[in-house]
Amino acid sequence: MFLRMDGILIDSEKKKVKSLNPAALAITYLTGGAAVCLTVVCIPFLSPALRRICLPYVPATTKQVENVLTALSTRSRSGKCVDLGSGDGRIVVAAARSGFISHGVEINPFLVLYSRIAAFKAGVSHLTKFYSCDLWKTSLMPYKNIIIFGVDEMMGELELKMAKELKSGSQVIACRFPLPNKTSSCTIGSGINQVWIYNY
Ligand SMILES: C[S@@+](CC[C@H](N)C(=O)[O-])C[C@H]1O[C@@H](n2cnc3c(N)ncnc32)[C@H](O)[C@@H]1O
Repeated sequence: MFLRMDGILIDSEKKKVKSLNPAALAITYLTGGAAVCLTVVCIPFLSPALRRICLPYVPATTKQVENVLTALSTRSRSGKCVDLGSGDGRIVVAAARSGFISHGVEINPFLVLYSRIAAFKAGVSHLTKFYSCDLWKTSLMPYKNIIIFGVDEMMGELELKMAKELKSGSQVIACRFPLPNKTSSCTIGSGINQVWIYNY
């Protein structure tokens, strides 16, 4: 038995043809459409959990963003910032508001779209760029200020990537989880809002 697009229900064995009630047909298509839309929106949020290193979307707290801005406050505005895994773009927008050219790298295209709208609303579109790509495949060479709110398991591998790619004079701001081997030059805040600053 199968349902044709025009709502005719066909019983293939008995060759019996019935018409479905239009309201039932509308509900069937609406429910199916909603399920497809929900799946399409959820996949980018769930897929980081299936990667080798699971880095879920957890937005920075207001205090954490303040601590990042304090860390950036002594830096020259001529050096670009990048937030690796930029989420909804809050750190990128905050850095741009304080005068930095600021980029976000984010694997979830919906969060990239949201971030671009947030930057537009904040009037900093001209200072920001959001890339829908993998942070592990992003070169850090153009940046002097690197911000990462990651997970403990990724910090060792990221430390090696930074040691290879960062130019002298660069600064890394690690939120919530420090780099495992490099000694930080200072730390700001405590608990979940703590950030560590590393100079290269
Ligand atoms: C802990 S959240 C941090 C969000 C943002 N930086 C903040 O502080 O509000 C980590 C973000 O990294 C993104 N992400 C996970 N794996 C990624 C990857 N391989 N490349 C780029 N972004 C990734 C997630 O989608 C998530 O938005």
